[in-house]
Amino acid sequence: MSPYMKPSSIPGVYSARGRFFTINPVSCKQISVYGEQIKTINEIEYRAWNPFRSKMASALMKGLATLTLTQTSTLLYLGAASGTTVSHFSDILNKGMIYAVEHSPVVAKDLVVLAEQRENIIPIYADANHPEIFETIVPKVDMVYQDISQRNQADIFTRNMNRFLKKDGQGIIMVKARSIDVSLKPKKAYEIVCNHLTDNDFNIQQVFALEPYEKDHAAILVSKK
Ligand SMILES: C[S@@+](CC[C@H](N)C(=O)[O-])C[C@H]1O[C@@H](n2cnc3c(N)ncnc32)[C@H](O)[C@@H]1O
Repeated sequence: MSPYMKPSSIPGVYSARGRFFTINPVSCKQISVYGEQIKTINEIEYRAWNPFRSKMASALMKGLATLTLTQTSTLLYLGAASGTTVSHFSDILNKGMIYAVEHSPVVAKDLVVLAEQRENIIPIYADANHPEIFETIVPKVDMVYQDISQRNQADIFTRNMNRFLKKDGQGIIMVKARSIDVSLKPKKAYEIVCNHLTDNDFNIQQVFALEPYEKDHAAILVSKK
């Protein structure tokens, strides 16, 4: 381990000079997924995790430090887009599996290319509103992560959590306040989502507003009651 690159509290995530990094798998040597910087130290490639491109990196920058993920964890990722954030989870869960759901055919194409380069991503072209469609592919998972800017995002999240999350698993929902209700102050929108989650038997562990990386967005970390 380089004295420059320090392990963070989350296994597989490293920090250096106020930035977070994950390790590029050997099969992806020199491959940058979204133009992120790659630092090679002692032949290990560290991919910079850009908080302006990934809300998960924004949440880490804002102090999210209590994830229970390990190398072997399984993750259901809703709203995978072309795989920017999925790629970093793929680095972290290098002996685990990511079930990446995306409903736009345009971005799903790039997600499929990413999955071809990596062994731990299963791309699923489907609408997260209908978890019954991918129930035969996705097992019980250690984490459900959702980044979907829809008005009913909290409902999509709780239905998928109820169906797929293991008893002691965690969930993260990235909330876009304006998608909940443009007329509300962001804090009020986050409160509505938190109330929906507690009414559906989830514990709110932490809430992080993502400014200055993402305006009017918050990350909410939850577990089962
Ligand atoms: C903000 S982008 C996600 C960015 C991505 N999470 C990342 O950090 O790399 C939201 C994505 O959710 C997808 N999406 C929206 N509604 C969806 C749904 N009902 N089912 C599946 N994907 C959905 C959109 O097509 C879009 O690609």
